[in-house]
Amino acid sequence: MRAVGLDYEHRQLLAFESAAPRLERDDQVLLRVSEVGVCGTDRALASFEFGYPPEGESHLILGHEAVCEVVETGRAVTSLRRGDVVVPSVRRACSPPCPSCARGRRDLCVSGAYRERGIFGLHGYFAEYAVDMASDLTRVPPELAGCAVLIEPLSVVEKAVETALRYHEPSPETALVLGAGTIGILSALVLQARGLSVLVHSLEAPDHPRARLVASAGVQYVPRLSDERSDIVIEATGSPVAALEALKRMAPLGVCCILGSPLDAEGVVPFRNLFEKNQTVFGSVNASPSSFALAVEDLGRFDPNVLAGMIRRTRFSDFDETILGPQPSIPKTVHVL
Ligand code: BGC
Repeated sequence: MRAVGLDYEHRQLLAFESAAPRLERDDQVLLRVSEVGVCGTDRALASFEFGYPPEGESHLILGHEAVCEVVETGRAVTSLRRGDVVVPSVRRACSPPCPSCARGRRDLCVSGAYRERGIFGLHGYFAEYAVDMASDLTRVPPELAGCAVLIEPLSVVEKAVETALRYHEPSPETALVLGAGTIGILSALVLQARGLSVLVHSLEAPDHPRARLVASAGVQYVPRLSDERSDIVIEATGSPVAALEALKRMAPLGVCCILGSPLDAEGVVPFRNLFEKNQTVFGSVNASPSSFALAVEDLGRFDPNVLAGMIRRTRFSDFDETILGPQPSIPKTVHVL
């Protein structure tokens, strides 16, 4: 089958032929991949900043934001049927399982020996077919299939927002999101749906398509930050400089989630505020099964026009441009397979 991925020997992004996977266990499902989204992680993988192929192999099939159709189910699978549309989760448990993985929260894996499809040691979904355990798949109602590629990034946001709201002392009212990419916009939609008054700040001018998309969702877009402080701050930029800025934007009792930046920042951390104003900073990565379920629920709640405006579809073969080229103005690029 055709696949797109990384050759770690020649440090190259390329399309290649790979053996189509087959069911090996009764609880597995064979999937035909219909769409794969591209995100900042794929770009970082393609610059070999992190990631690694399966043990003993030189290639890694990319793709961790996928929409698939069930083609065949193992005999023990009762939850899914041929023709169902599903979205896979990304992370797989460490072995032997750490306490988090053992209780089904591999997103909170403490051993660090987890693997992730299309990222760390397991092939992803940028290929014609894939096999997964039924328990790693979330079924998508047919009416949401057109925006289902947003479920994986939305699950990551759901976990972060749920954690932020839980950490905040009663009744946060305001939120600031830094970044107007997919994660930033989805964060704004989730916070708005939870009743908060939300501001999105990013570097794009107010007439940029991303800024207009934010505004079309009824969320205020601010190209310049004021001195205003917010109860919840979500950093969704990927920039350590912005992450440091996020820490300075918290109101007393504020909670800040570092969601986009995997890099360390150089600069002054506002410890005095953290201490005197009882503030909380936390990092969040990946998502739990309940966050996937919540993502499906929320997707059905959000304005379909805003969701459609976030997605740009392109061909299987355009991967060079979408992964190595400049960032397009529409936040989510999706390859149709
Ligand atoms: C994915 C997460 C994953 C993270 C780190 C993100 O792009 O959405 O599921 O855990 O990358 O690898």
